Amino acid sequence: MSVREILRMGDPRLLRTAQQVPSDMLQTQELQDIIRDMLDTMEAAEGAGLAAPQIGIDLQIVIYGISQNPRYPEAPPIPLTTLINPDITPLDETMVEDWEGCLSVPGLRGRVPRWTRVRCCALDGDGQPLDFVAEGFHARVIQHECDHLQGILYPARIRDFSQFGFIDALPAFQSGSTKKT
Ligand code: NI
Repeated sequence: MSVREILRMGDPRLLRTAQQVPSDMLQTQELQDIIRDMLDTMEAAEGAGLAAPQIGIDLQIVIYGISQNPRYPEAPPIPLTTLINPDITPLDETMVEDWEGCLSVPGLRGRVPRWTRVRCCALDGDGQPLDFVAEGFHARVIQHECDHLQGILYPARIRDFSQFGFIDALPAFQSGSTKKT
């Protein structure tokens, strides 16, 4: 399929609440083609996740996954996952801050508070139901990607703006650590 242009922060299409994927679109070639384009685009950008609105598609679809990769030395591997119409619920009161980036906010990183444990109910790429609990970095990635479906980019979640800036200016990244979602 094809690598699509990734919209950047400022584009109003990133601020929409995405539409649910209708049931009659599940298990169609059209949906498979969208997911394929999302995978190709994420891979080409070396990202850890991508939401359909980031390529201008107004549907509730996210993908994410991290294999053992020297670019993300501190990130645990996460299997490649497709979530359609995801619904996430925090499972405890705890939020932790950690660095995030976003392919729609290139060159920057910020520390974002996220729930440490979430339950995720969704459909997979074949339209089969998923119901699982994610913790730690996996939970963070899911929350970041699902925020895209609500028109929320991670800078809107930052509490301490001294912890937001360009990668090549932030002291925390001088050792070369990068993490993109
Ligand atoms: Ni993002």
